[in-house]
Amino acid sequence: MIDAAARLLALLPPETAHRLTIRTTKAFSRLLPAPPPDDPKLATTAFGLSLPNPIGLAAGFDKDAEVPDAMLGLGFGFVECGTITPRPQPGNPRPRLFRLREDRAVINRMGFNNAGAESAARNLSRCRHRGVVGVNIGANKDSADRIGDYAHAFRRLAPFCDYVAINVSSPNTPGLRGLQDRDALSHLLEALTAARAKCGQIRPLLLKIAPDLDAAAMDDIADAALASGIEGLIVANTTIERPASLRSPHAGEAGGLSGAPLFARSTEVLKEMRKRVGARLALVGVGGISSGADAYAKIRAGASLVQLYTALAYQGPGLIRRIKRELAQHLARDGFARVADAVGADLL
Ligand SMILES: Cc1cc2nc3c(=O)[nH]c(=O)nc-3n(C[C@H](O)[C@H](O)[C@H](O)COP(=O)(O)O)c2cc1C
Repeated sequence: MIDAAARLLALLPPETAHRLTIRTTKAFSRLLPAPPPDDPKLATTAFGLSLPNPIGLAAGFDKDAEVPDAMLGLGFGFVECGTITPRPQPGNPRPRLFRLREDRAVINRMGFNNAGAESAARNLSRCRHRGVVGVNIGANKDSADRIGDYAHAFRRLAPFCDYVAINVSSPNTPGLRGLQDRDALSHLLEALTAARAKCGQIRPLLLKIAPDLDAAAMDDIADAALASGIEGLIVANTTIERPASLRSPHAGEAGGLSGAPLFARSTEVLKEMRKRVGARLALVGVGGISSGADAYAKIRAGASLVQLYTALAYQGPGLIRRIKRELAQHLARDGFARVADAVGADLL
């Protein structure tokens, strides 16, 4: 029935459908039966946290931390809320979200629309925390001190979550990706590890990077991340590239492309980062996952955990159960007793 509702939502303009999904999830999630327990093969640990399965909800779905409990209740192993900026901001003018149905993809140029850190802190303080909840933080578009914004958001939100993701890879806030450059990134990570040390909130810090990076940029990020003492990388955000294979009428819209056409490139960057950082940092693989085979490929490329968003919008929450079932089948077929044993198998 939920998946039939997802098909109906697909008939509405995408942002209306998304808002309605959040509202109904908030209102009715308690009525849903709990998902069956996960296959024990899928239980895993990453950056010191224990998870029942490695399939997470990527940032951008629950920007204001309105429904983390409900999304965990649908069977995700972890959920990431945000991106949350210190002050509320409206984001870019609409339309700013486009379905590329023929390509199983989405283009968005939302621009960090969110209700701000105070609102998110209130929501998260009411959360029941029956699983791992991460918070993804960013800078306000008009901020004169972007690094200060990240530190502010960290201090305000870290007490209410299990890990903090530092988003320097949204293509929709002008100049934000410049924080991936070696010196800027080192300063940012220094500020955040210092804020963490000072406020005593020992939360794992993960850096979310773009898929649009050349080898030298990947070297710089790996070096800065390893030197900083953060725990992991999320690979990757949406791409500003437009593969020639895109067929949808909206393919020329400005913004970040997600979904199936992002899979190959984001998996390639994941593999490259794994080669650079080995097992010293935990990697979260995201970009174009819509099946157990896709999740398994990311894990074999070096991801300890994976996340998805776009495929959920097209397929509805039944997808979560299917991916977990298929992933367990892939692991069993290849003789892996636990998901952790398959991490990086393609690079050995
Ligand atoms: C509508 C939309 C909004 C997004 N907003 C954010 C965001 O606020 N912060 C962020 O780090 N990533 C955001 N993302 C990127 C996703 O978290 C993810 O990295 C990307 O979509 C690739 O995964 P997918 O192909 O499974 O969607 C957004 C993606 C979409 C489609």
